[in-house]
Amino acid sequence: MKQLGMFITLEGPDGSGKSTQALLLIKFLKKAGHKVLHTREPGGDRVAESIRRLLLSPRNKIAPATELFLYWASRAQHVRQVIAPALARSVIVVCERFNDATVAYQGYGRGVDLKLIKKMNLIASGGLIPDLTFLLDIDPEKGLKKVLEAKGVKDRFELEKISFHKRVRQGYLKLASQEPRRIKKISGTGTIDHIHQQIKLIVNKKLSQ
Ligand SMILES: Nc1ncnc2c1ncn2[C@@H]1O[C@H](COP(=O)(O)OP(=O)(O)OP(=O)(O)O)[C@@H](O)[C@H]1O
Ligand SMILES: [Mg+2]
Repeated sequence: MKQLGMFITLEGPDGSGKSTQALLLIKFLKKAGHKVLHTREPGGDRVAESIRRLLLSPRNKIAPATELFLYWASRAQHVRQVIAPALARSVIVVCERFNDATVAYQGYGRGVDLKLIKKMNLIASGGLIPDLTFLLDIDPEKGLKKVLEAKGVKDRFELEKISFHKRVRQGYLKLASQEPRRIKKISGTGTIDHIHQQIKLIVNKKLSQ
């Protein structure tokens, strides 16, 4: 399928502001007359959303290998049923979390072999790479505090030790330093509007290329 739209992903630790910024970006793009789709990982369609519930429920004891395959299964479905068809219709797709999250959480966070993760990511995503990725960088302690204040309960990942979340953050930062053209690091500690302005500027530049 030929890609005519643009694929934008938002990454960052829990509570870094991905959903908040995705909504603002969608609103801005719609106003500018673009066709847009807001989606998230794990999830995106009925099948992938069922997998999401399995992955995030604190009641589920999931082995690391099972967790990985569930992420890849959900991504394979999401890309083929939702993202690629939208891109082929010239839609701008804004997705919260994608391949980079697997590298950060399961690779750097859980210690699974990075080469293996990258190889499987490529297969699951059918070779689809985001045109632009925003890394909302935040101290995990601050991010988790915000999540707890907003939701009142924690999911399976939010229950992990702070050292896990610190490794995830470092993993994301490493990825951003390895791919600076695609991954734009933005501090998640500024105001919601300030972060939105920075994202808008970069997206506008990309759209005019
Ligand atoms: N820049 C900001 N400054 C202060 N509070 C913020 C900022 N951005 C988002 N918030 C608030 O922090 C909380 C978490 O934000 P949000 O849900 O957007 O993060 P997220 O990255 O999507 O989290 P999750 O990983 O849990 O999906 C929300 O209550 C939101 O209103
Ligand atoms: Mg969110």
